[in-house]
Amino acid sequence: MALVTTKEMFGKAYEGGYAVGAFNVNNMEIVQGITEAAGELRSPVILQVSAGARKYANHVYLVKLVEAALELNDIPIALHLDHGADFDICKSCIDGGFTSVMIDGSHHSFENNIELTRRVVEYAHLKGVVVEGELGQLAGIEDDVNVSAENASYTHPDEVEEFVSKTGVDSLAIAIGTSHGAFKFKPGQKPQLRFDILDEVSKRLPNFPIVLHGASSVSQEYVKTIQENGGQLADAIGIPEDMLRQAARSAVCKINIDSDLRLAMTAGVRKVLYNNPAAFDPREYLKEGRANVKALVEHKIKNVLGSENKA
Ligand code: G3H
Ligand code: 13P
Ligand code: ZN
Repeated sequence: MALVTTKEMFGKAYEGGYAVGAFNVNNMEIVQGITEAAGELRSPVILQVSAGARKYANHVYLVKLVEAALELNDIPIALHLDHGADFDICKSCIDGGFTSVMIDGSHHSFENNIELTRRVVEYAHLKGVVVEGELGQLAGIEDDVNVSAENASYTHPDEVEEFVSKTGVDSLAIAIGTSHGAFKFKPGQKPQLRFDILDEVSKRLPNFPIVLHGASSVSQEYVKTIQENGGQLADAIGIPEDMLRQAARSAVCKINIDSDLRLAMTAGVRKVLYNNPAAFDPREYLKEGRANVKALVEHKIKNVLGSENKA
């Protein structure tokens, strides 16, 4: 099967009350872990690449790794640019084989966000590529942008219709209280998401796919494993999975997960190296990291996204 866009995936997910997982990929083991899980569970999946991932692994390597995964797993896979900061990076990914891009104009004014997003949509659609836009700002770190909790802002539902109609975007990321990274809430703080904003947005945008960024749950099992094996990760707190499941049943069709993959991979690698300081074969510790990534994605597909057997 060739790479697909997210159009059909989102249509089915919206109708079926589930979401498709969008997992960040940075190397071969991560691509393998994610796609083996999705392949075995017959789930569609989105593999997303950030500017940082392209800098680390090189665009061509990442595309070829994803092509290899497609050859080995007969499931719908979309290749997506995560947090495209400007027109040029979106163009480079559109021209370079991606089937979906995000233009993240959320740091700009509403008017400039519309202008930038519209320009990317115009180019992408000519090439058969779909576009995700964003309104509202999440807290946390993504590449070089660090948004403090004070500067984060929820999406204003009264802006979404104008944004979507003027830009022509295919999906919209909104801010309802999720945030990037492994430290989403302060210790003792009760995790909360603004489902009222999500409801209001979906009323104003009927049958339109909504995206949630910053949706890692930060499994305490992996945090504990990292700590027990010489790591320091106290107070890492994520989004409760029951809240994500609730979101997946609604208009949310894409749920972004990166930090959970990092924790899973690191927990596996740490466990091997801490217990066997003499180990020096990368296959020995990366294998463990890859197995954790696979187990994590299986868990998400079955218990959070609801996308099993939807390929
Ligand atoms: O939202 C950001 C993603 O977690 C990607 O992170 O920019 O460090 O690759 P990165
Ligand atoms: P997490 O940091 O919660 O995994 O969010 C990832 C993300 O939103 C990628 O765009
Ligand atoms: Zn994000």
